[in-house]
Parts: sequence; C-alpha cells; structure tokens
Amino acid sequence: MFSDNSFEYVSIHPDDASFTYRLRSARYDHSCELMISPRPTTLEREREWIQQMPTQVDRVYFLVKSKADRKPVAYVFLSQIEMIHRRAYVGIIVDPDCRGRGIGRAAVRFIVDYATQHLNLRKLYAHVLKDNQASVQLFQSLGFVAEGTLTEYHYSCGRYQDVHILGWIRSDGHA
Ligand SMILES: CC(C)(COP(=O)(O)OP(=O)(O)OC[C@H]1O[C@@H](n2cnc3c(N)ncnc32)[C@H](O)[C@@H]1OP(=O)(O)O)[C@@H](O)C(=O)NCCC(=O)NCCS
Repeated sequence: MFSDNSFEYVSIHPDDASFTYRLRSARYDHSCELMISPRPTTLEREREWIQQMPTQVDRVYFLVKSKADRKPVAYVFLSQIEMIHRRAYVGIIVDPDCRGRGIGRAAVRFIVDYATQHLNLRKLYAHVLKDNQASVQLFQSLGFVAEGTLTEYHYSCGRYQDVHILGWIRSDGHA
C-alpha cells in the first residue's frame, strides 16, 4: 500500500464497484467524458471491469482513500503504458462531493511519483477537454505543459470538442 500525509493509494477491489460505478456513470459530469463510455452500464459489469484489472499489464488503477475515515474519494490511473517508450497516459476522477480539497493534486503527485519511481516511466500525458479549466490548471500546476490541441477530437452532446494534450517529461537526472 502507498500513502502520503492524507491519503492511501490502494488497488481497486470488486467491493469498491459502487463507488467507481457512481463516478464512471456520471454522465452529467462532462469533464469526465474522455475517460468513460457513453454506453449504459451496470454495477455487475463494473465489478467485472475491476476483476480483470490485474490481468491488464498496460494499465494500473489506484483507489484514493482518505486516511481520516478510510472512505474512497477518487481513483487515479495510468493506461497505455509503453515500456519501450517509457510513457503512459494519466487519468483521474475525484468524487464530485470532494473536489476543491487538494485530493486531485495529491493523487496526481502520487501517480507521477509511482510512474517514475516504480515503473521507471519517463513521459506522462493527459488528454483534457478544452473547457475543463480545473484539470488544465491542476496538471499545469504540477509541471505538465501544453503540447498541442487535437481539433474537434471528441464528440459528445451533439458537438465536437477540442482536446488539449498536456505532457510531462522526467527531468531529475534519471531520464
Ligand atoms: C480536475 C480534478 C481532478 C481536480 O481535483 P480536485 O481534488 O478538485 O483538485 P484540487 O483541490 O487538488 O486542486 C488542485 C488545483 O487544481 C486546480 N483546480 C481545481 N479545481 C478548480 C476549478 N474548479 N477551477 C479552476 N481550477 C481548479 C487549481 O489549480 C487547484 O490549485 P489551487 O487550489 O492552488 O488553486 C477534479 O475536478 C475532477 O475529478 N474532475 C473531473 C475529471 C477530470 O477532469 N479529470 C482530469 C482529466 S484526466
């Protein structure tokens, strides 16, 4: 188990399905659209999705739990892990009821540290909808820089939207 001052970062268990299902089926939360499918799903399928996580070598998911009450507050992940190119995609969803309390910053800090210190990755990137200011500012505040914009990349709610690519490259002398 990994932890920092306020949070624990643990693997996701099928018993956590109701939490991830709530976050991943939140179609009202447009900022999450790049990470979740528009298809309807069920709690049972959510459990199956969690059960097959250990077999997927190109991704790793963590549940973020508050140390104070052990309740889940977010999940954060690396996907499309490429060991030759030493890069991965980063994603995060914080419980809408818990936003603005420093969880996103702590969790992205953790996943960057995990990616470099445990997986020896060198480059991380996130895709963020153009109007998702919270996410753009969060990643930029942690050293991610705008690398480009995918024009009219994502279709949702009847329109195509631009997507920013935010990238981070390890620069601590171990590159
Ligand atoms: C983006 C997200 C992860 C931020 O998580 P959070 O726990 O609310 O963020 P924090 O409280 O740690 O804030 C960290 C920084 O993010 C930025 N930020 C957070 N909320 C913001 C908002 N509503 N508007 C502008 N900037 C915001 C700020 O730079 C903030 O730093 P500050 O508090 O010093 O100003 C969260 O809003 C979320 O889950 N959004 C939906 C999913 C998503 O967009 N994921 C990212 C795409 S991969």
